[in-house]
Amino acid sequence: MIGKANTLAATAALLSLASAQTFRRLGSCPTLGCVLPPDQSDFLPGQLFDLRLEVHAPVNGSEAFNNGVPDEEFSVTIKKEGGKAKSIAEFFDVSEPELEKWDFSWYEDLFAQDADTPSVVNVASKIYRKLAIYEPGNYEVTLKYYDDETTTANWVVRPLAMKKRAKNVILFIGDGMTTNMITAARLLAHKSINGKYQSLLQMDQFPVLGHQMTHSIDSFITDSANSASALYSGHKSSVNALGVYADSSPDHFDDPKVETIVELLVRVWDSAWGAVSTAAIADATPIALSGHSRSRYDYAALVDMSLNGLSNYSWTNQGGPDVWFGGGAEQFVPGSESYNGEDYYAKFADAGYEISLNKTSLLELGNSSKALGIFCQSHFPVWLDRNVFTENLESFENSPTGSEEPALDLPGLKEMTLKAIDILHERGGDDGFFLMSEAASIDKQMHALDYDRALGDLLELDDTVRATVAHLAAIGELDNTLVLVTADHGHGFDVFGNADTKYLAEAKGDRQKRRAVGTYDQSGLSHYTEEAGGVSYGTGPNFPVNWDPRYTIASGFGAHPDIREDYRVRRRGPREPTSAMPGFEEDNYFANPEESPDGFIVNGTLPTSESVGVHSLTDVPVFAQGPCQEIFGGVYNNIDVFYKIASCLGLGRPNDRPGGSCGKH
Ligand SMILES: *[C@@H]1O[C@H](CO)[C@@H](O)[C@H](O)[C@H]1NC(C)=O
Ligand SMILES: *[C@@H]1O[C@H](CO)[C@@H](O)[C@H](O)[C@H]1NC(C)=O
Ligand SMILES: *[C@@H]1O[C@H](CO)[C@@H](O)[C@H](O)[C@H]1NC(C)=O
Ligand SMILES: *[C@@H]1O[C@H](CO)[C@@H](O)[C@H](O)[C@H]1NC(C)=O
Ligand SMILES: *[C@@H]1O[C@H](CO)[C@@H](O)[C@H](O)[C@H]1NC(C)=O
Ligand SMILES: [Zn+2]
Repeated sequence: MIGKANTLAATAALLSLASAQTFRRLGSCPTLGCVLPPDQSDFLPGQLFDLRLEVHAPVNGSEAFNNGVPDEEFSVTIKKEGGKAKSIAEFFDVSEPELEKWDFSWYEDLFAQDADTPSVVNVASKIYRKLAIYEPGNYEVTLKYYDDETTTANWVVRPLAMKKRAKNVILFIGDGMTTNMITAARLLAHKSINGKYQSLLQMDQFPVLGHQMTHSIDSFITDSANSASALYSGHKSSVNALGVYADSSPDHFDDPKVETIVELLVRVWDSAWGAVSTAAIADATPIALSGHSRSRYDYAALVDMSLNGLSNYSWTNQGGPDVWFGGGAEQFVPGSESYNGEDYYAKFADAGYEISLNKTSLLELGNSSKALGIFCQSHFPVWLDRNVFTENLESFENSPTGSEEPALDLPGLKEMTLKAIDILHERGGDDGFFLMSEAASIDKQMHALDYDRALGDLLELDDTVRATVAHLAAIGELDNTLVLVTADHGHGFDVFGNADTKYLAEAKGDRQKRRAVGTYDQSGLSHYTEEAGGVSYGTGPNFPVNWDPRYTIASGFGAHPDIREDYRVRRRGPREPTSAMPGFEEDNYFANPEESPDGFIVNGTLPTSESVGVHSLTDVPVFAQGPCQEIFGGVYNNIDVFYKIASCLGLGRPNDRPGGSCGKH
C-alpha cells in the first residue's frame, strides 16, 4: 500500500488528464476504481443486472501507479438514501464472488497510437451477478481501494409501475432516421399544391411527438448497438456494446449485463415478443433485444444466445423470440459464420420454430407456432432495388440457403411486420406482445451517401406503419397497442435546394457544374410526384411517381469522405462513394471515379481512412400513439424511452410474487 499524500497527488493529476481525453482507459471510469453500472445509472424496480468492480494499476504511461500492482483488498458498499451502508453480499443476500485478475492496454492519444506505445494496466476485479433492487429511491454505491481512495456511483431506482396500461407495444425503429430525412421523404412521395401537401406521411398523423437525445455513455456520437441497448434496457453503454456495460476484460461475454425489455416482459407477464428487420437478424438493432456482448460483431454467439440464453454467466433464458424475421443467413447455414459451425435452421426447428426462407412460405405460415424467417444472406437489398430497379436483384449472391443464387422471392418490411403481428397476437393472447420492427437501410444507405435508397426505405417504413395501424384496427387491437416510431441516432443529412441534372452533366469543370444547384426561389417544387414521359413506377400512393426527374433534390451530408456528386438516382445499384487508389495504403479512400463521372468533386470532412459517412449528433424524433401516448411528448434521453415503455407495461415490480424475482407470474 502507498502513502496518503502520494495517492491524492497522483489521483488529482489523473483526473485532469482523464477529463480532457477522447481516448480512454475505460469509458465511464475516469478514476482507478470502476463501478459498473457507473454513476448516474437508472434502474427499473426489479430489473436484473450485474455489478462489476475494477481496480486499475497502470504499469506505464502517464498514469503509472503503485508499480502496476492493483489493490486486491478493495471493498464496496451500497446505501439507500437515509439508510445504512451495507456490503453488497449482505444487501443483495448473495455470496462473495471470486477475485479475478487480468491486464489490458490502451493508447492515450493519437501520438501514442502512431508510435505504437500502448499503456498497460493491471486489474483486480469482482462481479456480482443477477442482482435487482426493488425499492424505488436514490442509492449510493461506494468502492474503497488503495487505502483511502473512493469511487461513488449514484443510482436512481425509478418509481414502481404495477399497472399494465398497454397490452401490446410495437416499436418501429428507422435506423439513423432524422427529422430532416422524414421531411425529404415527404417531399418525394407526397404531392403539394401551392405549398400545401395533398396527403401526408402516416408518421405525420401521430398525435404525440417527442425528441430523444442519443449520446453514448462515454462518447457523444453513438452507434446502433449501444443506442439500441439504451432504448431496450434503460442503460447507456459504450460504442459496439449491447446489453452490457463495457468492462476492461478480454472476454466479450463476461461484462456486466442489464435486463432488456423483452427479457423483463417474458419474465414478468409471459408475453410474446418478436423482432423484424431488413438487416441481418444478428445486426445490432434486432440482436440487442436478446443479446449481451461487449461486441456487436459476435454475430454467431449472439444468435445462439438469443435462442439458448447465456448459461455460462447465469442469465435468464427467456426461451427465444416468438417471431424473428430478417436477413443474415450466414449465421444459420452451417459453416464458418454460424456458432460452432452448426446448422441453426435445424436448431430453431428442433426448438419448435416454423422456418420460412421466402415470401411465399412466409405468407403461408400459420399464426400459432414460433416462427423464424431468414430471407437472404447479409442485409436485405433495399426497397428501391426490390421495387423499382428490380433487375439489380439478379446480381446479388444472397440466397438464404447459403448458395450463390440471388434471393428473388423477398418479402418487404410490411409483409414481415403484418405476419409478425398475427403470430404475436395469437401467441401472446391476453398477455399481449412486444414487436420491434426495424427499417435498417435508412442508416446503411445514408452511410453509403445513397440518399435515394435511404429515403426509399424510409418511405417503406412509413408504408409499413400505415398498414400496421390499419391491421391493428382490423383485428381489434388498435386501442390496446402503443405504437412508437423512432430512431436510434441520426446522420447529418439535409436538402438545401434542387439540382438541374441535365445542366450539371453538360457543364464543364467543377465550379461550373455547381451552378446547377438552385437555392431559395430557384429550388422550385418537387418533381418526384410528377409523371415524366409516361414513366410511372407503379409502386402506389405514398411513394414517388418518378425517381429520376431532371430536377432532383440537392442534398448533402455533414460528414463524408471525398465524393463525386451528380444528384441523380443510382439506377445500377447502391452508391459506392469511395475507392482505394493504387499506390496508397489500403485505408486511404478517395472519391470513386466510377461514381457520377459527370459530377463534381466534393472534398470530405472525415479522416481519409473512412470510406463512408458516419453518424451525427442530432436528437431524433419519437412519434407515439395509443395507450400512454401522452408520456412521450417533450425532450428526453434515449433511456427514458425504455422507462416510459416499461411503466406503460407495468414492468416496474416489487419483489412480491411467489417464486421471488425470477418466477413467472
Ligand atoms: C508499456 O509497456 C509495454 C510493454 O512493455 C510497451 O510495449 C509499451 O510501449 C509501454 N508503453 C509506454 C507508454 O511506455
Ligand atoms: C460458454 O462455455 C463454453 C464451454 O466452456 C464455451 O465453449 C463457449 O464458448 C462459452 N460461450 C460463451 C458465449 O462465452
Ligand atoms: C420457398 O420456401 C419453401 C420452403 O420454405 C420451398 O419449398 C420453396 O421451394 C421456396 N421457393 C422458392 C422460390 O425458393
Ligand atoms: C392469422 O391471423 C390473421 C388475422 O387475424 C387472419 O386473417 C389469418 O387468417 C390467420 N391465419 C391463419 C393461418 O390462421
Ligand atoms: C479533394 O479531393 C480530390 C479527389 O479525391 C483530391 O485529389 C484532393 O487532394 C482533395 N483535396 C484536399 C484538400 O483534400
Ligand atoms: Zn449506422
